Amino acid sequence: MTTFIILLGPPGSGKGTQAERLVGELGVPHISSGDLFRAMKEQDTPLAREIQAIMARGELVPDSATLRVVEARLQEDDARAGAILDGFPRTVPQAEALDGLLAELGGRLAAALLLNITEDEVVTRISGRRVCPACERVYHVVYNPPAAAEVCDGCSGALLQRSDDEPRVVCERYRQYLSKTAPLIEHYRDAGLLVEIDAMRQIEAITPDLVAAVRSRVDAH
Ligand code: AP5
Repeated sequence: MTTFIILLGPPGSGKGTQAERLVGELGVPHISSGDLFRAMKEQDTPLAREIQAIMARGELVPDSATLRVVEARLQEDDARAGAILDGFPRTVPQAEALDGLLAELGGRLAAALLLNITEDEVVTRISGRRVCPACERVYHVVYNPPAAAEVCDGCSGALLQRSDDEPRVVCERYRQYLSKTAPLIEHYRDAGLLVEIDAMRQIEAITPDLVAAVRSRVDAH
């Protein structure tokens, strides 16, 4: 049985943090469209340069380019049993394309899990976020600090702030979320797939609710 899960929510709502925790619970890979785009940073192609410029402005990458990148990732072997999709789909056309893609792959969407947080919390979480550029682990200076300040617990790399986490870009990312991604909430509610999660709680308190929501959806089929 394939288990494709979507994690929906505003910037900083904890999609990446929870996806990493769900990997062990569900046994399927974490596929983040943002991570796929960031990994293209080293590619010296017009498309890769354009994508980095769009991300730096906090805008959305066009659907056609997004679909090409995500489709290629979904066709890799480790995604045969399913995946936790983080940050994709982000527009209604992307959601419609995902339906077609899953039909081709013989997959089924089990749930769209919406992580609800307030706009103030978006700012608090993103301003304190630190990431390890080497192994991509994500921390928060107060809520999820590394053992030694600014050093990754996993690989001892120096932690950095993401370049699109500066306040002006975060405002634009939130605006884009409200105008282009929030319509997916009704889209997935209408499809009977939406599960709303109170994500204003501690990281450890949220994961069991996500696991339970997914398991009940998978068991129901
Ligand atoms: P992307 O990387 O997907 O960014 P995002 O959606 O804005 O989400 P974030 O990564 O900022 O946050 P998150 O929800 O994963 O939170 P996290 O777990 O890190 O996309 C970046 C860009 O790529 C986009 O702007 C766009 O340009 C492009 N893009 C990507 N996908 C696209 C698509 N499909 N179509 C078009 N363009 C696309 O947590 C945040 C912080 O809070 C961390 O410090 C963490 O430690 C902390 N934290 C997490 N949970 C909690 C908690 N419960 N309590 C306290 N702190 C917490």
